[in-house]
Order: sequence, then C-alpha cells, then structure tokens
Amino acid sequence: MEALKGVKILDFTHVQSGPTCTQLLAWFGADVVKVERPGIGDITRGQLRDIPDVDSLYFTMLNSNKRSITLNTKNEKGKVVLERLVKTCDVLVENFAPGALDRMGFSWERIQELNPRMIYASVKGFGPGPFADCKVYENVAQCAGGGASTTGFLDGPPTVTGAQIGDTGTGMNLAFGIVTALFHRESSGKGQRVQAAMQDGVLNLCRVKLRDQQRLGHGPLKEYSQHGRNIPFGDATPRAGNDSGGGQPGWILKCKGWETDPNAYTYFITQAAIWGNICDVIGKPEWKDDPGYATPDARLDKLTDIFDTIEDWTKTKTKFEVMEICNPLDIPCGPILSMKELAEEPSLRETGTIVEVDHPTRGKYLTVGNPVKLSASPPVVKPSPLLGEHTEEILRDFLGFSDQEITEIKASGAVGK
Ligand code: COA
Repeated sequence: MEALKGVKILDFTHVQSGPTCTQLLAWFGADVVKVERPGIGDITRGQLRDIPDVDSLYFTMLNSNKRSITLNTKNEKGKVVLERLVKTCDVLVENFAPGALDRMGFSWERIQELNPRMIYASVKGFGPGPFADCKVYENVAQCAGGGASTTGFLDGPPTVTGAQIGDTGTGMNLAFGIVTALFHRESSGKGQRVQAAMQDGVLNLCRVKLRDQQRLGHGPLKEYSQHGRNIPFGDATPRAGNDSGGGQPGWILKCKGWETDPNAYTYFITQAAIWGNICDVIGKPEWKDDPGYATPDARLDKLTDIFDTIEDWTKTKTKFEVMEICNPLDIPCGPILSMKELAEEPSLRETGTIVEVDHPTRGKYLTVGNPVKLSASPPVVKPSPLLGEHTEEILRDFLGFSDQEITEIKASGAVGK
C-alpha cells in the first residue's frame, strides 16, 4: 500500500529543488500533477541533453512518477483551471522566483479562500531578510549557507561540493514540512504555509562548522590538521581539507593504483578505541606504548606524519583490500567510489537506490530511487511524464471539466503542446 495514496499534489515546481520534493512525495504514492508552461515545460527538459529532442536526464531523474499537464496560468481560462486545481488538491508546491505566484494572482490569502485545507509549500533561496527577493541556484546557496567557506583546502579558494545540498537538500526539507503539515491537518482541519529556504538548509547541514566557529573563541581547533602544522587560526572557521570534522581524526589516503586511477583512495579514521589495531596493521606496534603516540591528545600535533605513515601502508593495497583488512579489525574506513562504480554496484540496484526505468522516447536509463525505505510501502519508480502527457485526463477525470469546457479551454490556448 502506497503510504501517501490519495494525497493530491499541485506541483508547480521546476529545475531541481522543488521537483526533488514532489518526486519524493510521488515515490511515497501521492498523485503529483506537474503544471508546465505549454510549448516550453520545465526548462530542464531541454538542458544538458545527451540525445536530440528527448527529455534530458536532468529532467527525467527529477520527475519520475508524476503526471504532466500543460497550462498557461497567465491566460484567463488557464486561471480557471488553476483555480480548480487549487480547490481539488491537498498541497501546492512551488519554487518560483519570489513573488511569481502572487503576480499570477494566487497569493496565500487567495489560496486560503479557495481551499482552507490547502498546504502551500515553497522553496526560496533566502528567508525573510536582505536577500529575500533574490533568485538563487544551487551553488549560490552553498556559498551563502556556509558550505563553500568551509570546504576545500586551507591554501585554496572556497569550494562547492558536487552533492546538491542546496537543491535536493532543501527539497527534502520541504517534503518533511509538507508531511508534517498534512499530519497537523488531520487534527486541525486546516492547511498552512510551509517554507524552506536554501540558505537555511545548507547552514543546517553545516552545523558542525557553526559549532567550530564558537569553539574558536576558546582556543585553537586542536583536531584540525592546521593545528598540528602550527598554522594559526583566524577569526572564522577555516577550510579543513579532508579532516574528519568529528572527534576522531581522519584523512583521505592514496591506495594502490593512485598514479593512474583518480579514485584509488580511501578515507581512513584513526578512531581512538582501535588505535592498537591500526598500529598493528600498518606495522608500527611500537606506537601503542610510545607516550608520544599512545593517547589521542599526544597524537594531535603529529596527525600529518601519522597519516603519511598509514598511507605508506594503504599505497600497498587497493581501496577494497584496505576495507577488507580494516573492517574485521573495526577500523572505520571507506573506499572513494566513482560514479561509474556506483552505477554498476549490484547491491544498490537490489535495494532500489539506483533503478533502471524505460522511458517512451529515451529508452532505458538509470535514475536514483527513494533513499528512504518504508517496509510496508516500497516505491516503484516509473519514468517521468512527457510534456502535457496527461493534460486531457487531468482536465476530465481529476478536475471534472465537461467535454464542452475542455473544448473551450483548448480553444483559448491555455493548454497545448
Ligand atoms: N504559465 C504562465 N507563466 C508561468 C508558468 C505557467 N505555467 N510557469 C511559470 N511561469 C512564469 C512565472 O509566473 C514567472 O513570471 P513572472 O516573472 O512574470 O512573475 C516566470 O514564468 C519565470 O519564473 P521564475 O521562477 O522567475 O523562473 P526563472 O527561470 O527566471 O528563475 C530560479 C529560476 C530557479 C532562479 C527561480 O525560480 C528561483 O529563484 N526559485 C527559487 C529558488 C529555487 O528554487 N532555486 C533552485 C532552483 S533548482
């Protein structure tokens, strides 16, 4: 049984952050109706195309399990259809530039008048404040949310990460807010406004760096390798390269084949509790009782040398051999996996984290599945809709327009390819 079966979502989202949210709700079984501009659709349909005239992977990987209706919401008949959608659906999700929905004539006040049970959910780049009116994309959010200033190496520029923490991260926050508001509606009978700002989402994911900002006021951050290299701290949390960020020091180390394979590396953590095992495995048993190495505090000023010594050992093994040897000894480590390796990993296919779907014009392609697993409601990932694929059935069956009304709507140009 699909967990969100019967929940109707008016999906007014585009690009990545909003579509991530509604795709997640669709995987859980909600009926997601994606509203797109006739002739254009979600801009990502045509971006970064790998096959001419076929919806891009960018689009197909963000919009599976949805239905698509084309609708010009600035056309009078289009507004009538949108009004019916607002009255019919439980949730409206949008991530337009600030004010776009108001300019269309659908303010929160108007939406509440039309449907007091409506949950109106938005992603914006920033919350209220000096940047509230700004348009925002992923990397702007990473930079404004503290991700970039704390990512990269000490002697290099601020760096963004490949993980879409601003877009997909915020989309997931919004989905959580929507489901919470649906739960609240069960007792209150009323909808509410749900807002998730990308800056807030990134900052929330960077909380350990805000932690370190405050710790800086009480002395150097001793677990940062910068400390061991006698480089003084400034007044803001610095970039920490591959330092672990937690209480157990870690670093990325070369493995066998690193000279030719850019991903022949492992992440290696010198967890205090298994220090003796590490000393044995790398051939340094004398470090176990040496007062200069025996305790975590004694090791802090030697971390770079310690990791260099561990690397002398990891360079003799493949990243998978390192894992095979270290795991039974409880030494936390993990191979750096390339996208190629992940795409080919059978266990990720078995769990549905990566799925292959068959698209009517693209053919078979790989996409991500739901990273959250519900035991009673396993999702079936379906292909994304073609532009306007479901316009007719949504107008007739979902919204209850008559044949005559549908003819008029079509004649007005409010819907169409
Ligand atoms: N019918 C008629 N008009 C439509 C429409 C439809 N079905 N769908 C959208 N539009 C209109 C909007 O009303 C808007 O018109 P307006 O400027 O006259 O008010 C216009 O299309 C463009 O929308 P906008 O959101 O401004 O798109 P953009 O391409 O200029 O900006 C973003 C894209 C992502 C920068 C912007 O939407 C944004 O900042 N969103 C919030 C943050 C966010 O989610 N960012 C991450 C994206 S991954």
